[in-house]
Amino acid sequence: MFQADRRDVACLPINLAPPKEQAPSRLVRVPDPDRQDMQFPDIWLRDNCRCEECYLPQTLSRLPQLWNNLDTNVRVLRQSVDVDQEVFFIEWSDGHASQYPFSWLRERDFSPENRERYLSDSYRPEKKLWSGRDFERIRKVFYYEELITCDSKLQEWLHNLAVYGVALIKEAPIEMDVLRKLSNRIGFMRRTTYGDEFSVRAQPGASNYAYLAAPLPLHTDMPYFEYLPGVTMLHTLEQSESPGGVNLLTDAFFVAELMRERYPEQFRVLCQTPVDWADIGSDGDLKFHNIWRAPVINLDAEGRCVRINHSIPQRDSHFSVPLEQVRPWYEAMARFVGMAQEHSCGFKTTPGDVLTFDNLRLVHGRTGYDDTDRNVRHILGAFVDWDIVYSRLRVLRHAASPGGP
Ligand code: OGA
Ligand code: ZN
Ligand code: ZN
Repeated sequence: MFQADRRDVACLPINLAPPKEQAPSRLVRVPDPDRQDMQFPDIWLRDNCRCEECYLPQTLSRLPQLWNNLDTNVRVLRQSVDVDQEVFFIEWSDGHASQYPFSWLRERDFSPENRERYLSDSYRPEKKLWSGRDFERIRKVFYYEELITCDSKLQEWLHNLAVYGVALIKEAPIEMDVLRKLSNRIGFMRRTTYGDEFSVRAQPGASNYAYLAAPLPLHTDMPYFEYLPGVTMLHTLEQSESPGGVNLLTDAFFVAELMRERYPEQFRVLCQTPVDWADIGSDGDLKFHNIWRAPVINLDAEGRCVRINHSIPQRDSHFSVPLEQVRPWYEAMARFVGMAQEHSCGFKTTPGDVLTFDNLRLVHGRTGYDDTDRNVRHILGAFVDWDIVYSRLRVLRHAASPGGP
Protein backbone atom coordinates (compact mmCIF):
# COMPACT_ATOMS: atom_id res chain seq x y z
CA MET A 1 0.00 0.00 0.00
CA PHE A 2 1.20 3.49 -0.79
CA GLN A 3 1.87 5.50 2.33
CA ALA A 4 1.95 9.21 1.69
CA ASP A 5 4.10 10.03 4.66
CA ARG A 6 6.36 13.04 4.82
CA ARG A 7 9.42 11.23 3.45
CA ASP A 8 7.55 10.04 0.36
CA VAL A 9 6.25 13.52 -0.30
CA ALA A 10 9.73 15.00 0.02
CA CYS A 11 10.87 12.62 -2.75
CA LEU A 12 8.15 13.64 -5.19
CA PRO A 13 9.48 15.56 -8.18
CA ILE A 14 8.49 19.22 -7.97
CA ASN A 15 8.64 19.81 -11.68
CA LEU A 16 5.05 20.76 -12.41
CA ALA A 17 5.50 21.48 -16.12
CA PRO A 18 2.62 19.96 -18.15
CA PRO A 19 3.47 16.67 -19.89
CA LYS A 20 4.74 17.10 -23.48
CA GLU A 21 2.06 14.90 -25.03
CA GLN A 22 -1.32 16.22 -24.10
CA ALA A 23 -4.69 14.67 -24.90
CA PRO A 24 -6.36 16.42 -27.86
CA SER A 25 -8.58 19.21 -26.52
CA ARG A 26 -11.50 18.68 -29.00
CA LEU A 27 -13.18 22.04 -28.96
CA VAL A 28 -16.79 22.85 -29.86
CA ARG A 29 -17.18 26.22 -31.53
CA VAL A 30 -20.37 28.10 -30.65
CA PRO A 31 -21.18 30.93 -33.06
CA ASP A 32 -22.38 33.98 -31.16
CA PRO A 33 -24.12 36.53 -33.43
CA ASP A 34 -23.34 39.42 -31.07
CA ARG A 35 -19.69 38.70 -30.36
CA GLN A 36 -16.66 36.59 -31.14
CA ASP A 37 -17.40 32.85 -31.40
CA MET A 38 -17.03 30.95 -28.15
CA GLN A 39 -15.11 27.70 -27.74
CA PHE A 40 -15.70 24.93 -25.20
CA PRO A 41 -14.07 21.52 -24.69
CA ASP A 42 -16.64 18.84 -25.65
CA ILE A 43 -16.09 16.88 -22.42
CA TRP A 44 -16.80 20.03 -20.38
CA LEU A 45 -20.09 20.60 -22.23
CA ARG A 46 -21.14 16.99 -21.62
CA ASP A 47 -20.20 17.25 -17.93
CA ASN A 48 -22.20 20.47 -17.57
CA CYS A 49 -25.39 19.38 -19.34
CA ARG A 50 -28.34 21.32 -17.90
CA CYS A 51 -31.01 18.60 -18.29
CA GLU A 52 -32.84 17.17 -15.30
CA GLU A 53 -30.90 13.89 -15.48
CA CYS A 54 -27.63 15.80 -15.17
CA TYR A 55 -28.43 18.88 -13.09
CA LEU A 56 -30.54 19.72 -10.04
CA PRO A 57 -31.73 23.36 -10.26
CA GLN A 58 -32.93 23.59 -6.66
CA THR A 59 -29.35 23.07 -5.35
CA LEU A 60 -27.63 24.62 -8.39
CA SER A 61 -25.50 21.49 -8.58
CA ARG A 62 -24.43 18.71 -10.90
CA LEU A 63 -25.95 15.24 -10.48
CA PRO A 64 -23.33 12.48 -10.20
CA GLN A 65 -24.66 9.69 -12.51
CA LEU A 66 -22.44 10.56 -15.50
CA TRP A 67 -19.35 10.04 -13.35
CA ASN A 68 -20.27 6.47 -12.42
CA ASN A 69 -18.58 5.53 -15.67
CA LEU A 70 -17.45 8.68 -17.44
CA ASP A 71 -16.70 8.17 -21.13
CA THR A 72 -13.98 10.73 -21.75
CA ASN A 73 -14.24 9.95 -25.48
CA VAL A 74 -17.84 11.09 -25.73
CA ARG A 75 -18.29 13.04 -28.98
CA VAL A 76 -20.62 15.59 -30.50
CA LEU A 77 -22.69 13.94 -33.29
CA ARG A 78 -24.74 17.01 -34.22
CA GLN A 79 -24.92 20.60 -33.06
CA SER A 80 -27.39 23.39 -33.87
CA VAL A 81 -28.43 26.85 -32.79
CA ASP A 82 -31.85 28.42 -32.21
CA VAL A 83 -30.99 32.02 -33.01
CA ASP A 84 -34.30 33.48 -31.76
CA GLN A 85 -34.31 31.66 -28.46
CA GLU A 86 -30.52 31.95 -28.10
CA VAL A 87 -30.10 28.26 -27.27
CA PHE A 88 -27.33 25.88 -28.36
CA PHE A 89 -28.22 22.17 -28.90
CA ILE A 90 -25.95 19.10 -28.92
CA GLU A 91 -26.62 15.43 -29.66
CA TRP A 92 -23.96 13.21 -28.13
CA SER A 93 -22.39 9.89 -29.13
CA ASP A 94 -23.68 8.36 -25.86
CA GLY A 95 -27.28 9.01 -26.98
CA HIS A 96 -27.75 12.00 -24.70
CA ALA A 97 -29.08 15.42 -25.83
CA SER A 98 -28.22 18.75 -24.22
CA GLN A 99 -29.24 22.37 -24.56
CA TYR A 100 -27.48 25.44 -23.24
CA PRO A 101 -28.82 29.01 -23.08
CA PHE A 102 -26.42 31.48 -24.68
CA SER A 103 -26.42 33.71 -21.60
CA TRP A 104 -25.22 30.72 -19.56
CA LEU A 105 -22.48 29.94 -22.09
CA ARG A 106 -21.32 33.55 -22.28
CA GLU A 107 -20.90 33.69 -18.51
CA ARG A 108 -18.61 30.61 -18.73
CA ASP A 109 -16.75 31.43 -21.95
CA PHE A 110 -13.11 30.22 -21.73
CA SER A 111 -11.65 33.31 -23.45
CA PRO A 112 -8.87 34.95 -21.40
CA GLU A 113 -10.91 38.18 -21.06
CA ASN A 114 -13.96 36.37 -19.73
CA ARG A 115 -11.98 34.22 -17.29
CA GLU A 116 -10.28 37.39 -16.03
CA ARG A 117 -13.64 39.12 -15.64
CA TYR A 118 -15.09 36.19 -13.72
CA LEU A 119 -12.10 35.91 -11.40
CA SER A 120 -12.03 39.59 -10.47
CA ASP A 121 -15.82 40.23 -10.42
CA SER A 122 -17.14 37.02 -8.92
CA TYR A 123 -14.27 35.09 -7.40
CA ARG A 124 -12.14 37.65 -5.58
CA PRO A 125 -11.25 41.23 -6.46
CA GLU A 126 -7.67 41.67 -7.57
CA LYS A 127 -5.31 42.60 -4.75
CA LYS A 128 -3.39 45.88 -4.98
CA LEU A 129 -0.06 45.61 -3.19
CA TRP A 130 1.43 48.61 -1.38
CA SER A 131 4.53 49.81 0.38
CA GLY A 132 4.39 51.60 3.76
CA ARG A 133 4.96 54.97 2.12
CA ASP A 134 1.68 54.51 0.17
CA PHE A 135 -0.34 53.79 3.29
CA GLU A 136 -1.95 57.24 3.64
CA ARG A 137 -3.09 57.00 0.02
CA ILE A 138 -4.60 53.50 0.16
CA ARG A 139 -5.99 53.73 3.69
CA LYS A 140 -9.80 53.89 3.59
CA VAL A 141 -11.88 55.05 6.54
CA PHE A 142 -15.39 53.83 7.37
CA TYR A 143 -17.74 54.79 10.19
CA TYR A 144 -19.13 52.17 12.54
CA GLU A 145 -22.75 53.33 12.32
CA GLU A 146 -22.80 53.32 8.51
CA LEU A 147 -21.44 49.76 8.45
CA ILE A 148 -24.17 48.61 10.82
CA THR A 149 -27.00 50.30 8.91
CA CYS A 150 -25.98 50.47 5.25
CA ASP A 151 -25.32 47.44 3.02
CA SER A 152 -23.48 49.38 0.32
CA LYS A 153 -21.01 50.73 2.92
CA LEU A 154 -20.60 47.23 4.30
CA GLN A 155 -19.83 46.01 0.78
CA GLU A 156 -17.32 48.84 0.27
CA TRP A 157 -15.54 47.98 3.54
CA LEU A 158 -15.21 44.28 2.67
CA HIS A 159 -14.13 45.10 -0.88
CA ASN A 160 -11.38 47.40 0.40
CA LEU A 161 -10.27 44.80 2.89
CA ALA A 162 -9.96 42.29 0.04
CA VAL A 163 -8.12 44.67 -2.30
CA TYR A 164 -5.74 46.48 0.08
CA GLY A 165 -5.79 44.08 3.03
CA VAL A 166 -6.58 46.87 5.47
CA ALA A 167 -9.41 49.26 6.38
CA LEU A 168 -9.94 51.53 9.39
CA ILE A 169 -13.30 51.96 11.11
CA LYS A 170 -13.89 55.09 13.21
CA GLU A 171 -16.42 56.24 15.81
CA ALA A 172 -17.33 52.84 17.20
CA PRO A 173 -18.80 53.00 20.70
CA ILE A 174 -16.54 52.06 23.62
CA GLU A 175 -18.53 48.92 24.27
CA MET A 176 -17.60 45.28 24.47
CA ASP A 177 -19.96 44.06 21.70
CA VAL A 178 -18.68 46.18 18.78
CA LEU A 179 -16.64 43.36 17.19
CA ARG A 180 -19.50 40.91 17.62
CA LYS A 181 -21.90 43.29 15.89
CA LEU A 182 -19.47 43.87 13.02
CA SER A 183 -18.87 40.11 12.71
CA ASN A 184 -22.61 39.46 12.67
CA ARG A 185 -23.01 41.97 9.86
CA ILE A 186 -20.58 39.82 7.88
CA GLY A 187 -21.73 36.41 9.12
CA PHE A 188 -20.14 35.11 12.29
CA MET A 189 -16.98 35.30 14.35
CA ARG A 190 -14.15 32.83 14.22
CA ARG A 191 -13.50 31.29 17.64
CA THR A 192 -9.95 30.35 18.63
CA THR A 193 -8.15 29.02 21.69
CA TYR A 194 -8.18 32.62 23.02
CA GLY A 195 -11.99 32.71 22.92
CA ASP A 196 -14.39 34.63 20.68
CA GLU A 197 -13.09 38.07 21.62
CA PHE A 198 -9.72 38.50 23.32
CA SER A 199 -8.41 41.39 25.38
CA VAL A 200 -4.96 42.74 24.53
CA ARG A 201 -3.64 44.60 27.58
CA ALA A 202 -0.61 44.37 29.81
CA GLN A 203 -1.30 41.54 32.25
CA PRO A 204 0.91 40.12 34.98
CA GLY A 205 1.62 36.43 34.22
CA ALA A 206 0.41 36.93 30.60
CA SER A 207 -0.60 33.75 28.67
CA ASN A 208 0.64 35.22 25.38
CA TYR A 209 3.57 37.43 24.42
CA ALA A 210 1.14 40.01 22.99
CA TYR A 211 -0.32 40.51 26.47
CA LEU A 212 2.81 42.34 27.67
CA ALA A 213 3.57 46.06 27.32
CA ALA A 214 6.78 45.17 25.44
CA PRO A 215 7.19 45.95 21.72
CA LEU A 216 5.39 43.36 19.60
CA PRO A 217 7.36 42.86 16.38
CA LEU A 218 5.67 42.38 13.00
CA HIS A 219 3.80 39.08 12.85
CA THR A 220 0.75 37.26 11.56
CA ASP A 221 -1.73 36.06 14.15
CA MET A 222 -1.81 32.32 14.86
CA PRO A 223 0.57 30.90 12.23
CA TYR A 224 0.46 27.71 14.36
CA PHE A 225 -3.00 26.85 12.96
CA GLU A 226 -3.58 25.02 9.68
CA TYR A 227 -6.84 26.97 9.46
CA LEU A 228 -5.69 30.30 10.80
CA PRO A 229 -8.15 33.17 11.13
CA GLY A 230 -8.29 35.23 7.95
CA VAL A 231 -9.26 38.70 9.11
CA THR A 232 -8.14 40.35 12.36
CA MET A 233 -10.17 43.15 13.95
CA LEU A 234 -8.66 45.25 16.73
CA HIS A 235 -10.96 47.63 18.61
CA THR A 236 -9.20 50.30 20.67
CA LEU A 237 -11.07 50.79 23.96
CA GLU A 238 -8.33 52.65 25.81
CA GLN A 239 -5.09 53.98 24.42
CA SER A 240 -1.85 54.64 26.28
CA GLU A 241 -0.90 58.32 26.60
CA SER A 242 2.75 57.28 26.43
CA PRO A 243 4.51 57.75 23.09
CA GLY A 244 4.36 53.97 22.53
CA GLY A 245 1.52 51.65 21.54
CA VAL A 246 1.84 52.66 17.88
CA ASN A 247 0.42 50.15 15.36
CA LEU A 248 2.79 48.85 12.71
CA LEU A 249 1.64 47.30 9.44
CA THR A 250 3.36 45.92 6.33
CA ASP A 251 1.87 44.41 3.20
CA ALA A 252 3.95 41.22 3.28
CA PHE A 253 2.72 40.16 -0.19
CA PHE A 254 4.38 43.35 -1.47
CA VAL A 255 7.59 42.35 0.33
CA ALA A 256 7.37 38.78 -0.99
CA GLU A 257 6.95 40.04 -4.58
CA LEU A 258 9.93 42.35 -4.13
CA MET A 259 11.97 39.39 -2.91
CA ARG A 260 10.80 37.27 -5.85
CA GLU A 261 12.13 39.98 -8.17
CA ARG A 262 15.34 40.99 -6.39
CA TYR A 263 16.40 37.90 -4.42
CA PRO A 264 14.83 34.94 -6.26
CA GLU A 265 16.91 32.29 -4.50
CA GLN A 266 15.99 33.59 -1.03
CA PHE A 267 12.37 33.88 -2.14
CA ARG A 268 12.49 30.21 -3.15
CA VAL A 269 13.98 29.26 0.22
CA LEU A 270 11.14 31.01 2.07
CA CYS A 271 8.56 29.29 -0.19
CA GLN A 272 10.04 25.80 0.13
CA THR A 273 11.39 25.50 3.67
CA PRO A 274 8.74 24.26 6.08
CA VAL A 275 8.90 26.00 9.46
CA ASP A 276 7.45 24.73 12.73
CA TRP A 277 5.02 27.17 14.39
CA ALA A 278 3.77 26.62 17.93
CA ASP A 279 1.54 27.89 20.70
CA ILE A 280 1.63 25.63 23.72
CA GLY A 281 0.06 26.57 27.03
CA SER A 282 -3.31 27.60 28.36
CA ASP A 283 -5.74 30.49 28.41
CA GLY A 284 -8.22 30.46 31.29
CA ASP A 285 -9.17 26.82 31.86
CA LEU A 286 -8.30 25.66 28.36
CA LYS A 287 -5.01 23.86 27.82
CA PHE A 288 -3.77 23.74 24.23
CA HIS A 289 -0.93 22.35 22.13
CA ASN A 290 -1.15 24.00 18.72
CA ILE A 291 1.57 23.26 16.17
CA TRP A 292 1.62 23.65 12.38
CA ARG A 293 4.38 23.18 9.85
CA ALA A 294 4.46 25.41 6.76
CA PRO A 295 6.75 27.85 4.95
CA VAL A 296 6.83 31.59 5.58
CA ILE A 297 5.67 32.36 2.02
CA ASN A 298 2.89 30.08 0.73
CA LEU A 299 1.96 30.03 -2.95
CA ASP A 300 -1.14 28.76 -4.71
CA ALA A 301 -1.30 26.46 -7.74
CA GLU A 302 -0.58 29.44 -10.02
CA GLY A 303 2.41 30.64 -8.00
CA ARG A 304 0.66 33.59 -6.33
CA CYS A 305 1.18 34.44 -2.66
CA VAL A 306 -1.73 33.17 -0.58
CA ARG A 307 -0.47 33.15 2.98
CA ILE A 308 2.39 34.51 5.03
CA ASN A 309 3.41 32.87 8.30
CA HIS A 310 5.59 34.95 10.58
CA SER A 311 5.89 35.38 14.32
CA ILE A 312 9.14 35.43 16.24
CA PRO A 313 7.58 34.36 19.58
CA GLN A 314 5.37 31.68 17.97
CA ARG A 315 8.10 30.05 15.88
CA ASP A 316 9.00 26.74 17.49
CA SER A 317 12.55 25.82 18.48
CA HIS A 318 11.87 22.54 16.70
CA PHE A 319 12.95 23.04 13.10
CA SER A 320 12.22 19.77 11.37
CA VAL A 321 14.24 20.21 8.16
CA PRO A 322 17.55 18.69 7.02
CA LEU A 323 20.61 20.40 8.57
CA GLU A 324 21.76 22.03 5.34
CA GLN A 325 18.46 23.92 4.95
CA VAL A 326 18.78 25.77 8.26
CA ARG A 327 21.38 28.46 7.54
CA PRO A 328 19.98 29.44 4.11
CA TRP A 329 16.56 29.83 5.76
CA TYR A 330 17.97 32.19 8.42
CA GLU A 331 19.67 34.26 5.77
CA ALA A 332 16.51 34.51 3.67
CA MET A 333 14.37 35.22 6.73
CA ALA A 334 16.71 37.98 7.93
CA ARG A 335 16.26 39.58 4.50
CA PHE A 336 12.47 39.23 4.70
CA VAL A 337 12.28 40.71 8.22
CA GLY A 338 14.53 43.63 7.22
CA MET A 339 12.44 44.37 4.13
CA ALA A 340 9.18 44.05 6.10
CA GLN A 341 10.47 46.69 8.54
CA GLU A 342 11.67 48.91 5.72
CA HIS A 343 8.23 48.86 4.05
CA SER A 344 6.14 49.21 7.21
CA CYS A 345 3.96 52.11 8.24
CA GLY A 346 3.07 53.28 11.73
CA PHE A 347 0.04 55.10 13.16
CA LYS A 348 -1.66 55.24 16.52
CA THR A 349 -5.31 54.37 16.89
CA THR A 350 -7.57 56.28 19.27
CA PRO A 351 -10.47 54.93 21.36
CA GLY A 352 -13.37 54.02 19.07
CA ASP A 353 -11.13 52.95 16.18
CA VAL A 354 -11.39 49.43 14.79
CA LEU A 355 -8.41 48.39 12.71
CA THR A 356 -9.28 45.54 10.34
CA PHE A 357 -6.75 43.71 8.21
CA ASP A 358 -6.00 40.57 6.18
CA ASN A 359 -4.14 38.21 8.49
CA LEU A 360 -3.00 35.98 5.61
CA ARG A 361 -1.30 38.90 3.88
CA LEU A 362 -0.30 41.72 6.25
CA VAL A 363 2.13 41.51 9.12
CA HIS A 364 1.30 43.74 12.06
CA GLY A 365 2.79 44.75 15.39
CA ARG A 366 3.02 47.60 17.85
CA THR A 367 5.70 49.55 19.63
CA GLY A 368 6.16 49.06 23.38
CA TYR A 369 4.26 51.30 25.78
CA ASP A 370 4.18 52.36 29.43
CA ASP A 371 1.39 50.75 31.33
CA THR A 372 0.45 52.19 34.71
CA ASP A 373 -2.82 52.51 36.63
CA ARG A 374 -3.48 55.94 35.11
CA ASN A 375 -2.12 55.15 31.69
CA VAL A 376 -3.79 52.04 30.33
CA ARG A 377 -3.96 50.54 26.85
CA HIS A 378 -6.80 48.11 26.14
CA ILE A 379 -7.51 46.60 22.71
CA LEU A 380 -10.23 44.07 22.06
CA GLY A 381 -9.53 41.61 19.25
CA ALA A 382 -11.64 39.17 17.25
CA PHE A 383 -11.45 37.29 13.96
CA VAL A 384 -13.61 36.48 10.96
CA ASP A 385 -12.72 33.97 8.24
CA TRP A 386 -12.15 34.99 4.63
CA ASP A 387 -14.63 32.41 3.33
CA ILE A 388 -17.36 34.15 5.31
CA VAL A 389 -16.23 37.62 4.20
CA TYR A 390 -16.04 36.70 0.49
CA SER A 391 -19.39 34.97 0.63
CA ARG A 392 -21.03 38.05 2.16
CA LEU A 393 -19.32 40.29 -0.39
CA ARG A 394 -20.72 38.22 -3.29
CA VAL A 395 -24.21 38.14 -1.78
CA LEU A 396 -24.13 41.93 -1.30
CA ARG A 397 -22.87 42.47 -4.83
CA HIS A 398 -25.57 40.23 -6.24
CA ALA A 399 -28.30 41.98 -4.24
CA ALA A 400 -27.03 45.36 -5.51
CA SER A 401 -27.13 44.20 -9.16
CA PRO A 402 -29.30 41.06 -9.44
CA GLY A 403 -28.64 40.69 -13.19
CA GLY A 404 -24.90 40.47 -12.60
CA PRO A 405 -22.79 37.37 -12.02
C1 OGA B 1 -1.88 40.79 18.99
C2 OGA B 1 -1.61 42.12 18.41
C3 OGA B 1 -1.72 44.49 18.49
C4 OGA B 1 -1.72 45.62 19.46
O1 OGA B 1 -2.40 40.74 20.11
O2 OGA B 1 -1.61 39.78 18.32
O3 OGA B 1 -1.15 42.16 17.33
O4 OGA B 1 -1.87 46.74 18.99
N1 OGA B 1 -1.88 43.24 19.11
O5 OGA B 1 -1.56 45.39 20.65
ZN1 ZN C 1 -28.16 15.88 -19.42
ZN1 ZN D 1 -1.31 40.20 16.38
